[in-house]
Amino acid sequence: MAQIVGGIATSHIPAIGNAIAKGLQEEPYWRPFFAGFERARAWLKEARPDVAVVIYKDHGLNFFLDKMPTFAVGAAAAYRHADEGWGLPVARPFAGDAALSWHLIESLVADAFDIVSCQEMLVDHAFTVPMSLLWPGGGEWPVKTIPIVINTVQHPLPSPKRCFHFGQAIGRAIASYPEKLRVLVLGTGGLSHQLEGARAGFINKKFDLLCLDKIVAHPEALARYTAMDLVALAGSQGVELMNWLAMRGALTGEVREIHRNYHIPISNTATGLMVLENETLPTIRHPAAA
Ligand code: DHB
Ligand code: FE
Repeated sequence: MAQIVGGIATSHIPAIGNAIAKGLQEEPYWRPFFAGFERARAWLKEARPDVAVVIYKDHGLNFFLDKMPTFAVGAAAAYRHADEGWGLPVARPFAGDAALSWHLIESLVADAFDIVSCQEMLVDHAFTVPMSLLWPGGGEWPVKTIPIVINTVQHPLPSPKRCFHFGQAIGRAIASYPEKLRVLVLGTGGLSHQLEGARAGFINKKFDLLCLDKIVAHPEALARYTAMDLVALAGSQGVELMNWLAMRGALTGEVREIHRNYHIPISNTATGLMVLENETLPTIRHPAAA
C-alpha cells in the first residue's frame, strides 16, 4: 500500500525563485530563509518519497477569474510551468503519476469532494518554487508529482474546515492506493501577507506563530476560523494557510514535528516552513460511502 512519509508546508514567494536563479542564498537578506531548508532536505533524503502531492493555489496561470474551481486535481503524465510575468526562469517539466491521480480523483469523489479533474494543467510559482527549495540543483526532479489546487484566490473561498476535511480525504485516498509508494504531502503559501489595497504589506507575527504551533498539535483550532477571519488575521493572501491545513489533514491525528523555520519578511510575506512526520498509522474510512 502507499504510505505517507510526512508533510511539509512552505511559503512560495516568486522572489525566492529569482534568488535561487541568481545564486543569492548566502546573502545576508536570504541566508536566514534558505538556512531553514537544510534540515528539510536532510529529512527528505531519509524519507525518500517517490511522489509529492502538492497542494497549492493557482495565481492565474492555469485558472483565471472566469473559471475558478474550488478544488482541482491534476491527472496528467507531465506538468509544465510557464512565464507568469515574475521574471522567473521557467522550471523544468514535472513528471506526473496519472494512475495515482485517477485513484485520488475516484476516492475524493466517492468521499463527496466534487473536484475538477485536469488532464492538462500548468503549474505556477506556488508549485515550482517549493519544489526548487526542496530539490535544488537542476537535473531530473527525483519525485513524480500530483498537483492539487484549492481556490484561495476569489470569493467565495472554501472554509478552512472544508480544506482540512479535504486534506483528510486526500490522506484516505493515498492510504488506500494499492501500489507500494512513498508519498510526501506538500502544502504551499502563507504565512501572513497582503499584496494589495490599504493593508498592503500587512504581517501578523503573533498569529503566524500561533498557526505554527496549532498546525502541529491542534489543527482543528485553525479549522474553526472562517475564511474571512483568516483574511482579517493573516491578510488577503494569508488565506493560503488553507493549503497548510489540507496538508495537515492528510497526515494522521498525531504527528511529530521534525523542523520549523519562521522569517520576516521575504518580499511582502512572513515566511514559514514546517516538516512533519506521521506518528500513527492512518485509518482508511470513507464517511460519505458508509
Ligand atoms: C508574494 C507572495 C505570494 O504568496 C505570492 O504568491 C506572490 C508574491 C510576495 O510577497 O511578493
Ligand atoms: Fe501566493
